[in-house]
Amino acid sequence: MKHPFWYGKLILEDLGSQFNLDELFESLRTPGRHMCLRVNLLKASPEEVMEELEEKGYKPYQPFKEVPEAVCVRVEGPFEIPRLERFVIADKYAAESVYVGANLYSPGVLKSEAEPGREVSILAERTLEPVAIGISKIGREVPERGIAVEVTLSKYKAPKFRELKAFEEGKVYPQSLPAMVAVRALEPEGLVVDLNAAPGGKSFHAYELLKGKGKVISFEVSKKRANKMRREMRRLGHEIELMVKDSRYADLDFPELVEKADRVIVDPPCTSIGVIPKVWDEKKDEDMLNSFKYQIQFVKVAYKLLKKGGLMLYSTCTLTKKENEEVLDFAQELGFEIVERDTPWGKAPVKVVPYVHQEPGFFISILKKP
Ligand SMILES: C[S@@+](CC[C@H](N)C(=O)[O-])C[C@H]1O[C@@H](n2cnc3c(N)ncnc32)[C@H](O)[C@@H]1O
Repeated sequence: MKHPFWYGKLILEDLGSQFNLDELFESLRTPGRHMCLRVNLLKASPEEVMEELEEKGYKPYQPFKEVPEAVCVRVEGPFEIPRLERFVIADKYAAESVYVGANLYSPGVLKSEAEPGREVSILAERTLEPVAIGISKIGREVPERGIAVEVTLSKYKAPKFRELKAFEEGKVYPQSLPAMVAVRALEPEGLVVDLNAAPGGKSFHAYELLKGKGKVISFEVSKKRANKMRREMRRLGHEIELMVKDSRYADLDFPELVEKADRVIVDPPCTSIGVIPKVWDEKKDEDMLNSFKYQIQFVKVAYKLLKKGGLMLYSTCTLTKKENEEVLDFAQELGFEIVERDTPWGKAPVKVVPYVHQEPGFFISILKKP
């Protein structure tokens, strides 16, 4: 098998028992069929956002009537990217942005064999795959900040949502379709507690669906990520109570929340195998096993915070059974019951698979505390 994915033996066995690995790995290298925006229904209508997208030359569409806030635009590509004599090497994170059309910024440059004003190839670190070409703004010396290469052709071309007026005005939030469907499946109401909040997509969506008739309390352990989420909250105009705390102890730190939540969101760190596009990826077996041990701790707290009859959304952006189905087994042993929900990809609990659905890989499940 020829692919830039270095996964541990147990991970490969886990994925191999569910999927055609060649097709799966090939699909992880593509961004999926479209990129989507969630319209902030508290501030704008889908029609208004679609109008601006059309003015910018995009052809937006609403993929599912059940999720009217989802507005998507097709991704163009793949385009053939030549390897030119002059090149710069970009780190994985920067290479994956450039791959879908972003410019390359200096902090993402690992090595430069460029000359200012000349055409260069941008190569991904490690695999040295050409991900884009562009006009270099830098030479061999790399400045600390600023644009390093202005991209003229990238492997894929994604819509530039952040340049929209609607983005500046907090009327939209770029988000994957499966993530939106996950929060819809939770049917937010009353008190919603998010145990893994940043960058905030699911908390924000829940807040919007509550339409002022409930409350969102979000936990995020990383100060840096919480600060970024706060900036997004300001942009969107949302009032969410954000706790910069380790949510594994939420029941002890906030006893007043015990058995008070109507809904809990558990969207914990995972091996992120479903996040696309990837130029390459490496995950060790311990990563998956440690993720599982970490994930079940949030499920335990969710059980304590939920009222009887309350619902938990358990979702991940990964595809292993260990971090999805096996976490559900643990949840059921704890007392949770699986609630089936219709989704565009079948009944939840459901796994969205890139090569089957041309969407980012995602797991969606709803569980009830009886
Ligand atoms: C997959 S991301 C969540 C994405 C988010 N739900 C969204 O839709 O935008 C997982 C988040 O959990 C946070 N996290 C990890 N351990 C945590 C803990 N012990 N308590 C609270 N948050 C934690 C991570 O910092 C990260 O921001």
